[in-house]
Amino acid sequence: MHLHVADHPLIAHKLTVLRDERTDSARFRLLTDELVMLLAYEATRGIRVEDKAVSTPVGPMTGTALSNPRPVVVPILRAGLGMLEGLLRMLPTAEVGFLGMVRDDETFEVTAYAERLPSDLSGRQIFIIDPMLATGGTLAMAIDYLLARGVSEVTAICLVSAPEGVAHIEHTYAGRADVTIHTAALDEKLNETGYIVPGLGDAGDRMYGVV
Ligand code: URA
Repeated sequence: MHLHVADHPLIAHKLTVLRDERTDSARFRLLTDELVMLLAYEATRGIRVEDKAVSTPVGPMTGTALSNPRPVVVPILRAGLGMLEGLLRMLPTAEVGFLGMVRDDETFEVTAYAERLPSDLSGRQIFIIDPMLATGGTLAMAIDYLLARGVSEVTAICLVSAPEGVAHIEHTYAGRADVTIHTAALDEKLNETGYIVPGLGDAGDRMYGVV
């Protein structure tokens, strides 16, 4: 498992505004959008490409195009949806699959309540988007689910991660080169109610209002 923690002043700045409890939902969604575009730059470094012939007004050349089959973006519902638009702006030809996972607030146990994925995932490059990597239970379940469907690589893009969640993924996928996490920040810890400290609170609630 590879872990990349972003180290860029623009990401740090935007994430600080995102964390601020005074930031309202509209601005929160806009910042999330911008952050995912910045994270996508590094997270897609290993995306598969091929040569493509192109003619400029001056002459022919061999350029680069994303390979087929297209990458698949998988937002984890609900909060992952807030990262979809930004990533699709960078990867407009990606296919999109959805995984709905919910965590019990008391036991922290994760269950899947929805799944809508392309039927053939074998050999595909997958980008999971989920803003908060807390216990790692949801992400591990999503990764297991996708690996079992024959995907070739899974890259998770997160905004804020807890060391406990990263350790869980590192332990579960030790020695595997096909699982990567890109996170904008690695925070201090998880608290007893499962929130990342200092984190940013409940990402889904902050994006969409408490439901
Ligand atoms: N999910 C969130 O939205 N926030 C946390 O701090 C942890 C999990």
